[in-house]
Amino acid sequence: MSCTVSGIGLAGFGTVGSGVWKILEEHGGLIESRSQGAAAMEIRKIAVRDLSKKRDGNAPTDLFTTNLMDVVDDPSIDIVVELIGGTDAAFELVAAALKAGKPVVTGNKALLAERGAELFSLSRENNAPIHFEAAVAGGIPIIKAVQESLMGNRIESIAGIINGTSNYILQRMTEAGLGYPEALKEAKELGYAEADETLDVNGWDAAHKAILLGSLAHGFLIDYKDVYVRGIEKVTPLDIKFASDLGYVVKLLSLVIARNDGGIEIRTQPSFLSKTHILASVHGVFNAVAVRGDHLGESLFYGRGAGQGPTASSVVSDLVEATRNSRSDRGFLPYREAGKLVAIDDTATSYYVRFSVTDRPGVIAEIATVLAKHQIGISGTHSPVDADHPDADFVEMVFLLHTCPFGKLKIALAEVENLDCLTDRPVVFRIETL
Ligand code: NAP
Ligand code: HSE
Repeated sequence: MSCTVSGIGLAGFGTVGSGVWKILEEHGGLIESRSQGAAAMEIRKIAVRDLSKKRDGNAPTDLFTTNLMDVVDDPSIDIVVELIGGTDAAFELVAAALKAGKPVVTGNKALLAERGAELFSLSRENNAPIHFEAAVAGGIPIIKAVQESLMGNRIESIAGIINGTSNYILQRMTEAGLGYPEALKEAKELGYAEADETLDVNGWDAAHKAILLGSLAHGFLIDYKDVYVRGIEKVTPLDIKFASDLGYVVKLLSLVIARNDGGIEIRTQPSFLSKTHILASVHGVFNAVAVRGDHLGESLFYGRGAGQGPTASSVVSDLVEATRNSRSDRGFLPYREAGKLVAIDDTATSYYVRFSVTDRPGVIAEIATVLAKHQIGISGTHSPVDADHPDADFVEMVFLLHTCPFGKLKIALAEVENLDCLTDRPVVFRIETL
């Protein structure tokens, strides 16, 4: 058994970084045996911000440094692991590691989705791979699946629930009747949310992951500026309840769809999904990614999408990969010119639209007339009496609309908003049939 020990520089010893330490402590020997000695590794430096913080695990204090570049510059380090998050210091660190020809393992989806073009170029130029299994869907090995296992397929669609925090919050709001702030507080305490939860709840964390999956599936780096993203911050208990009345759940769905005309649709937004769809039963911090390949058909990848153990498990799997093979083509490298992304206005689904309207005769007809003028069909309505406020002078009126392009719906709704019966802006959800 050959036994070259790879030196690891670990940047970040928070939720995920300390989890990596724990796994290597517990299973280092097992990993070595399973890899016939190829994946012997030792953490030789750990960069953090604050040396005085009490740390999880028993890492010796002399490994710690506050100088981030120590994990690259130390000549005994062969592989750099970036687990600090953010896109500034992390970029400098990863770029420096690649320039030094050192393979990088990262869980940082924001970094790769926003600055991947520069980093993948450096990876190619310096023959140093970037591994990022932990960046998408925590412990689920979806990157290797799309990048390697499904190589023989045209990927027709990817539909994912890929932000554990949002999924946890929506579920707690749905099933425990929690308010949004209480549910978010729980997700933070459980270590699911990022240090700054903004990207979790505004949809961008999931969108970054969808960009990475879409890029892997279609061979070019999708530009994050072209991607349509909405978060869960404005989802109300009322729409969650109406969804349920109508046989749906509200999920933050990320979709990458390859159309027959060659265009690629990519969007992340809270959407209605039938309660009977398999993704509707993905609860809490669990993630799931449904991939459809032309030869494979449908396949579902399911598991914990965030948290220490699952994410560190993916980092360790990349470390093993990095110790075994340091050629840059083991990581992802874009191989074709940018494909054509479909503008959001040209994507079509059916819709749930809730109007808050003055309670007077003729209101339904007024709205329906505008929709008909724009040739948007109505497949159903829903307007339950509010038992708590039976004499209120406004009501919530839900219209379920037939499939039409989003751009057409926007034009029609702008006209509906001019009607004096409306007391608030319409609330729109896509109904995704996948
Ligand atoms: P975290 O708990 O906030 O830990 C961040 C670590 O990085 C801390 O140890 C911090 O030092 C250190 N750090 C931050 N900035 C630094 C700097 N400029 N110089 C030196 N050290 C610095 O974050 P995390 O949850 O482990 O997440 C790490 C990465 O994994 C992020 O990119 C995240 O998106 C990704 N990820 C996380 C999860 C998850 O479930 N948590 C899942 C998938 C991917 P101090 O300890 O001294 O503050
Ligand atoms: N904050 C992320 C989530 C962590 O909630 O899914 C995993 O990327």
